[in-house]
Amino acid sequence: MTAGGVLYRARAYDTPDDPFADDTARPGFRYEDDLGLLVSREGVITTRGPFASVAAAHPQATVIDLRAGILLPGLVDTHVHFPQVRVIGALGMPLLEWLERCALPEEQHLASPDYAATIASELVGGLIAAGTTTSLVFGSHFAPAVDALFTEAARFGLRVTSGLVVSDQMLPEPLLTTPDRAHSEAVDLASRWHGRGRARYAVTPRFSLSASDAVLAACASVMTDVEGAFFTSHVNENLTEVATVHGQFPDRSDYVDTYDHHGLIGPRSVLAHNVHPLDSELAVLAARGAAVAHCPSSNAALGSGLFRLRRHVEAGVPVALGCDVGAGTGFSLFKEGLQAYFAQRLLGDQGFPLAPGHLLHLSTSAGASALGLADVVGDLSVGKEFDAICLRPPAGTALDIGLRHAGSPEEALGKVFALAGDADVADVWVAGEQIASGGFLRPVGAGPAVRPSRDARRTRSTPG
Ligand code: GUN
Ligand code: ZN
Repeated sequence: MTAGGVLYRARAYDTPDDPFADDTARPGFRYEDDLGLLVSREGVITTRGPFASVAAAHPQATVIDLRAGILLPGLVDTHVHFPQVRVIGALGMPLLEWLERCALPEEQHLASPDYAATIASELVGGLIAAGTTTSLVFGSHFAPAVDALFTEAARFGLRVTSGLVVSDQMLPEPLLTTPDRAHSEAVDLASRWHGRGRARYAVTPRFSLSASDAVLAACASVMTDVEGAFFTSHVNENLTEVATVHGQFPDRSDYVDTYDHHGLIGPRSVLAHNVHPLDSELAVLAARGAAVAHCPSSNAALGSGLFRLRRHVEAGVPVALGCDVGAGTGFSLFKEGLQAYFAQRLLGDQGFPLAPGHLLHLSTSAGASALGLADVVGDLSVGKEFDAICLRPPAGTALDIGLRHAGSPEEALGKVFALAGDADVADVWVAGEQIASGGFLRPVGAGPAVRPSRDARRTRSTPG
C-alpha cells in the first residue's frame, strides 16, 4: 500500500441505515455512482465522498478504478457448517433424516485432522469465492478440526467466529462428549483462538435435542469463562424436532427456554432457523437482544417451512442471513437473499415485502450487527474496515446485460440478488487486504491474520 493510501473509485451500494426500522422508507440503501473511498494502510476507510473531491484532497493516493463492476460491503454469513461442504445438494429429506443419512456420517470423518484440514480449506475457499468475509461458522465435534478451521481462516484474515460443537445424546457415539470434556476442550480452544487476529470463540451446543441439561450448563460455564464469547445453536427448525424437544424438556416452557434457562440467550447469541416460533419465544429473544440467522435455502430444501420474518420484525428480533451449508444449497448470500424474498412472497399477506435494500442489509450490515461487529464492518462508512467485494459479471451473462440496462440503482440491485453468483465475485478485500482477485485466492500470511484486532471486544448492544 502506498503512503497516501489507496483510493477506490467505484459504483457502490451499502446499507448504513436499517431499512427494517421504517418499512415505508425507500430505497433503504445508499448508492453512489462515482464514489471515492480512501483506505489507510491499516485497512480502515478514512475518507468517503464524490471521487473528484476525495482525489483532489489526496493527490498522492493510488487510485484503483472499479467502475467496471459494483462495489458492495463484504457479505456476512451468520450460519454455515464447517464439516458439511461435501454434503451440499442432498435433496428430498426432512431435517432428522438428512442429519442421520447425510450430515452426521460425514461429520464423523473430521476425527481425522488431515481430513479436517482439507475440509477447512474447502470451506474457507467456498466462503471467499462467494464474497463472504465475515461468518459465524458452526464448527466440528472434534477439537483438532476446529483448530484446523481457525488456522485456515487466519491464513486469509477472514473474520470467523466458531467453536467446538458439543452433544451428549442422540447422535452417533463418535460425535458425543461429556459435560466436563465439553467445558475443558472449549476453554482450551478459546485460549488459543478467541481474540487472536479476527477469530472469536462461539459456544456451540448442536441443538437441545442432542444436549442434556448438564451439557447446556457446561456451555453456560464456558460463556462465563471466556469473556466476549458468542453463543450459537439451532432452534425451532422442524416440527418433529420441536415436538421432541418439548417432550425431552417437560420443565421448560418452550424450545428457546431450554437455552434461556441456562442463561445462554443474550446479545451475543445467534440462533439458526426459528421457523416455528411461539410469540412468547420471540418476546424472550427480543428482550435478550438475541439474533436469528434466517437460512431460507435450507428451510426450503429440507421442507422445514416458511420463515415468519414479519413476526420477527414486529417483535423486534434482529434477523440476518445464513447459508446453512450443507442443508443450504451453496455459500452464496445472493441466493439466500433471493430465497428470503421468495419465502416472503409465498407467505402472501403474512409475508414481509422485501425490497432490494432489505436484501443487501440482511446479507451485510444485519449480519455485522448480529455478530457484534457493527462498528467494524457491514457498510462502507468512514471508520469501518474496508471489507468489500467487487462484482464484475462475465460479458454477455444475464447479470452483465441486466446491469447495463437497469433503469435505476434499485432495479440494478434487484438484478444483483436475482442473478449474481460466485462467478460474478471478482475481488474480495478484508481490512484493505485483497484476498481474492479474478478467481485467484491470495493468503495474507502472517499479516492481518495475527494482528490483534478490535473484533474480540465487540458485542451487540442490548436493545432499549
Ligand atoms: N440441527 C442440528 N444440526 C443441524 C444441522 O447440521 N443442520 C441443520 N440445518 N439443522 C440442524
Ligand atoms: Zn445449521
